[in-house]
Amino acid sequence: MSGFFNGKNINELFSGLLRFLAKNPPKNSGRTAEIVSSKPISSRLYSSEIKKCTLIPGDGIGPEISAAVQQIFESAKVPIEWESVDVTPVRGPDGKFGIPQAAIDSVNRNKIGLKGPLMTPVGKGHRSLNLALRKEFNLYANVRPCRSLEGYKTLYDDVDVVTIRENTEGEYSGIEHEIVDGVVQSIKLITEDASRRVAEFAFQYAKENKRKKVTAVHKANIMRMSDGLFLRCCRDMAKKYPDVKFEERYLDTVCLNMVQDPSKYDVLVMPNLYGDILSDMCAGLVGGLGLTPSGNIGLNGALFESVHGTAPDIAGQDKANPTALLLSAVMMLRYMQLTPYADKIERACFETIKEAKYLTGDLGGKAKCSEFTNEICSKISQS
Ligand SMILES: NC(=O)c1ccc[n+]([C@@H]2O[C@H](COP(=O)([O-])OP(=O)(O)OC[C@H]3O[C@@H](n4cnc5c(N)ncnc54)[C@H](O)[C@@H]3O)[C@@H](O)[C@H]2O)c1
Repeated sequence: MSGFFNGKNINELFSGLLRFLAKNPPKNSGRTAEIVSSKPISSRLYSSEIKKCTLIPGDGIGPEISAAVQQIFESAKVPIEWESVDVTPVRGPDGKFGIPQAAIDSVNRNKIGLKGPLMTPVGKGHRSLNLALRKEFNLYANVRPCRSLEGYKTLYDDVDVVTIRENTEGEYSGIEHEIVDGVVQSIKLITEDASRRVAEFAFQYAKENKRKKVTAVHKANIMRMSDGLFLRCCRDMAKKYPDVKFEERYLDTVCLNMVQDPSKYDVLVMPNLYGDILSDMCAGLVGGLGLTPSGNIGLNGALFESVHGTAPDIAGQDKANPTALLLSAVMMLRYMQLTPYADKIERACFETIKEAKYLTGDLGGKAKCSEFTNEICSKISQS
């Protein structure tokens, strides 16, 4: 193995790491006062006047479900003006594909956005735009509430968990190298700063939402240094929130418990990859990806998105379920403190699902996306 890391490859390895760190410099880890809470960036920004929101309709079913959300917002008279942007990758001066500048400018200006699913080519082409957006806007915490829906029967009736996933580093740092032919290396990057801020976000979220417990999910028994650091940051943060119960659990134990008795958990906080997988599992417990919303919260704004993909098998056929994107938009309204609109839309959506007259195919119904959407609009106008 001694010739394995020859000088050139080690240099490549570290230059990649340095490039990453140069773009994402670790900040002073002691500055807790700067850490954003789960509160909106500024309540002043969101008075009753009409606000601009960036809309990234996305690919596949994205445009259909985005149009459904826009129609529902219009019927609820939400004081929002959408600024629709295209994020189809463009080739930059360095020859690499990236997000168009107009889309970056729009999110930077509005500081709030709603995003449909984006197609990622597998193993070739441009890198994941979802990842690029999270990095570009430093959207460090991904929040996914998973709650059983009344009237939509799944294995459990009592699921009510929130997964909070570190969103900027870990296994998704994007630092990968071919050491020699047939041997590749992928770096899991964990920093104290990112771990601390997501831990703080989780405790703050629990406190503000009157939740009882935060569970740190990890594999520090195996990845002692990386997950060990993440866990230590969670333990430190727990001391600052004595009213919120704290526990730590191995990822495998949480997976087992979650499918046996999801009521064991409340708020879960974890590194990036674990969050990606566990949050999809939780979505499965409440009826699937078509129902699950999410928010990516950053220091300077937030981007809300449905967690499912582009569903190419049903794209353009008016069959998609817009609930996940709609509930993401509802989360966005709460973040903007437009709570009465959020409540009204959420109620109409839940009632439509509970009545089960206009369910889309993924929920066992025969309704089209447009019929489901029209029913929600009609409930909103009657309320
Ligand atoms: N956040 C994102 O932008 C995101 C997330 C996951 C996958 N993707 C991308 O989406 C593409 C397709 O991925 P996939 O097929 O693995 O996953 P997918 O979520 O697109 O589809 C999986 C299954 O779920 C169904 N489905 C998904 N959303 C639905 C909805 N709203 N209503 C009804 N049915 C729905 C699909 O029809 C399909 O049968 C890939 O290019 C992938 O990279 C993007």
